[in-house]
Amino acid sequence: LLMEQFTGMDQLEKQLASLFEIERCLIVSGNSDEQEKVIGEFGELVDEALQRQLPEGRNIIAVMGGTTMAEVARHVSPLETTKRHNLFVPARGGIGEAVSIQANSVSALMAANAHGEHRALYVPEQLSEEAYHTLLKEPSIRTVLAMIKEANCVVHSIGRAVHMAARRKMSEDEIVRLKQKNAVAESFGYFFDEHGAIVHKVPRIGLSLEDIQKMPTVLAVAGGKSKVKAITAYMKNAPKQTWLITDEAAANEILKGK
Ligand code: F6P
Repeated sequence: LLMEQFTGMDQLEKQLASLFEIERCLIVSGNSDEQEKVIGEFGELVDEALQRQLPEGRNIIAVMGGTTMAEVARHVSPLETTKRHNLFVPARGGIGEAVSIQANSVSALMAANAHGEHRALYVPEQLSEEAYHTLLKEPSIRTVLAMIKEANCVVHSIGRAVHMAARRKMSEDEIVRLKQKNAVAESFGYFFDEHGAIVHKVPRIGLSLEDIQKMPTVLAVAGGKSKVKAITAYMKNAPKQTWLITDEAAANEILKGK
């Protein structure tokens, strides 16, 4: 029976990867909306993927924030480092998240668990245009930004548009506009409609979607029935080398609606 279950999951993974035309899909059994442990298992898969995918030499791993990523970071284990040097950085400057789930905190935790190095990117959440440009000239910020732009791996999640906008305290007006544009997904501070088209960007420094296109290792981690629309929308135009790590509940629902 175990073997059959394994083969079944294997089929599901292949179907989902071919639907989204991406390199790989890894599916954990269960539903992360209802079972916290499923997110822990996403973390174990991210850990395995990093152990296997990161090449020898110098690696820069850019990490996004969010509740999924915070739990994933807890499950990363020491990376083999005799031939590798691993530096973890936040993928983007503050986009309005609470401290414990900000990319700075999540990447720091991942670095500590992986026995890697970490560099933080200190940019306040609310800044005038002028102050923002002044900060960009700061040598300490420029150094970290240059490292982020050199990243060869990114780990991120995918969120629901309106939920993310509210959590990041975007204004009522902005939320109304997002709804008018039919935004259903958010990732990296970009909002997407159900066709995967970008309908809004939160202007912040760090990785852009363009940077991610060329990156050798891209791990997207999101599951649960509640995120089905968001995952489907974002994955439509996701870079082809993406590995999607999700759960059975989301995978079945996505394939049902295709
Ligand atoms: O803010 C980073 C991020 O990974 C977003 O890209 C994504 O929309 C969101 O977090 C997901 O948050 P959560 O894991 O809490 O659903």
